[in-house]
Amino acid sequence: MKIKILLVCALLSMCVSLVFAQSFGQKQRALRPHEYGNVTMNNSSEKNDIAPVVFNHWLHRAIYTCRICHVDLGFAMKGGATGVTEDDNKRGIYCGACHNGKEAFGPEGKDVVGKPVKNCYRCHSFGKKVKFEKDFYEYTKNYPKSRFGNKVDWLKVEEAGTIRLKDYLEGITIKRKPLTMTKNIDVKSKELGMPDIIFSHQKHTIWNGCELCHPEIFGAKKGSTKYTMQDVFDGKFCGSCHGKVAFPNNDCQICHTKEV
Ligand code: HEC
Ligand code: HEC
Ligand code: HEC
Ligand code: HEC
Ligand code: HEC
Ligand code: HEC
Repeated sequence: MKIKILLVCALLSMCVSLVFAQSFGQKQRALRPHEYGNVTMNNSSEKNDIAPVVFNHWLHRAIYTCRICHVDLGFAMKGGATGVTEDDNKRGIYCGACHNGKEAFGPEGKDVVGKPVKNCYRCHSFGKKVKFEKDFYEYTKNYPKSRFGNKVDWLKVEEAGTIRLKDYLEGITIKRKPLTMTKNIDVKSKELGMPDIIFSHQKHTIWNGCELCHPEIFGAKKGSTKYTMQDVFDGKFCGSCHGKVAFPNNDCQICHTKEV
C-alpha cells in the first residue's frame, strides 16, 4: 500500500514538473552556453555613439567570487542598475578596478611587439564581430558539464580545484577572514510528492559570502522569509541568482533533492 502511494506521488510530481516546465520554460529563448549570464550595459554607450557593453559572467566567475564584485566593488545585481560610466572606469572604480592594464587589460594597451592598441571593442562588443582573447568553448572545455545554463557544473569546477576564486584585490579591497556557516537549511516543498530542498550554506558561501543574501534577499532566521516556486521563477529569492547567473530553474532536481 505504502509503495503504491509513493508511486502515485512520484507520478503526480512528474506531471507537476511538466506543467511547470512548460508554462515557465517558454518565457525565455534558450540561450547558448556562452550567452548565459551575459549582461548588456547601455545606459550611455549608444547615446555616445559607441556599441553597448557586453559583460560576461562565465569568464569573470571563473576567476573571482561573486562577492568581490557585488559587495566590495559595488556592482548592482540587476542589469544596467549600477550606471557605470567611462569616467568611473578611468578613476579605477567598477570595471576600472581591474581593467587598468595590471589586473586585466585596460582601455588602451600594447600588443606583443609593443605597438599601442585600443581595447574598446572587447568591452563595447554588442552587435560587433569581435575577436575575443578568451573563447568560451576553448576556455571551459575541460570543465565538468551540466545540463543547462553555461552547461558547466560550476560547483564541481571549484571543488575540484580547477579554478581558485580570488576574493581580494591588492590595494583596492580589504582582506577579510571568510565567515563560515555550515548549517544546511531544509526547505519544505508545499506540494505533495515534490521533493524538499536542501539548501547548503557551505556551498553557497564559497561564491557569495554572506552579504549577497543577508539581509536583503533572506532574513537571517529560518522561515522568516515566505516565498513560492513562482517567486523563484519570477527572479526573486533563490531566483535572484538562479536563472540569471547560477544554474537555471529548469534543472528541478538539483534543488528538489530530498527523498520523498
Ligand atoms: C573594461 C571594459 C571597457 C573598456 C575596455 C572600455 N569601456 Fe567604455 N564603457 C564601459 C562601460 C561598462 C560603460 C558604461 C556602459 C553603458 O551603460 O552604456 C562604458 C561607457 C563608455 C562610453 C559612454 C559615455 C560615458 O562616458 O560613459 C563611451 C563613449 C566609452 N565607454 C568609450 C570607450 C572608449 C573610447 C574605449 C577605448 C579607449 C572604452 N570605452 C573602453 C566599459 C569599457
Ligand atoms: C567581475 C565582476 C563580477 C563577478 C565576479 C560577478 N558579477 Fe554579477 N554582475 C557584474 C556586473 C558588472 C553586472 C551588471 C551590473 C549592471 O549592469 O549595472 C552583474 C549583474 C549580475 C546580476 C543581474 C543580471 C541581470 O540579468 O539582471 C546577477 C543576478 C549577478 N550579477 C549575479 C552574480 C553571481 C551569482 C555571481 C557569482 C557566481 C556574479 N554575479 C559574479 C559583475 C560581476
Ligand atoms: C575583479 C576584476 C574585474 C572586474 C571588476 C571586471 N573585470 Fe573584466 N576581466 C577581468 C580579468 C582578470 C579578465 C581576463 C584577463 C584579461 O583578459 O586581461 C577579464 C576579461 C574581460 C573580458 C574578456 C575580453 C576578451 O577579449 O576575452 C571582457 C569583455 C571584460 N572583462 C569586460 C568587463 C566589463 C565590461 C567590466 C565591468 C562591467 C569588467 N570586465 C569588470 C577582471 C575584471
Ligand atoms: C545564497 C544565499 C545565502 C547565503 C550566501 C548565506 N545564506 Fe544564510 N540563509 C539563507 C537562507 C535561504 C536561509 C533560510 C531563511 C528562511 O528560511 O527564511 C538562511 C538562514 C540563515 C540563518 C538562520 C538559520 C536558522 O536555522 O534559523 C543564519 C544564522 C544564516 N543564514 C547565516 C548566514 C551566514 C553567517 C552566512 C555567511 C557565512 C550566510 N548565512 C550565507 C541564504 C543564504
Ligand atoms: C546570491 C546568489 C544565489 C542565491 C540567492 C541562491 N543561490 Fe544557489 N547557487 C548560487 C551559486 C553561484 C551556485 C554555484 C553553482 C552555479 O553557479 O550554478 C549555487 C548552487 C546551488 C545549488 C547546488 C549546490 C548543491 O548542493 O549541489 C543548489 C541546490 C542551490 N544553489 C539552491 C539554491 C536555493 C534553494 C536557493 C534559495 C533558497 C538559492 N540556491 C539561492 C547562487 C545563489
Ligand atoms: C534554485 C532552486 C530551485 C529550482 C531549480 C527549482 N525549485 Fe521548486 N522550489 C524551490 C524552493 C526553495 C521552494 C520552496 C518554496 C517554499 O514553499 O517555501 C520550491 C517549491 C516548489 C514547489 C512547491 C509549491 C510552490 O509553488 O512553492 C513545486 C511544485 C516546485 N518547487 C516545483 C519545481 C519544478 C517543477 C522545478 C523545475 C522546473 C523546480 N521546482 C525547480 C527551489 C527550486
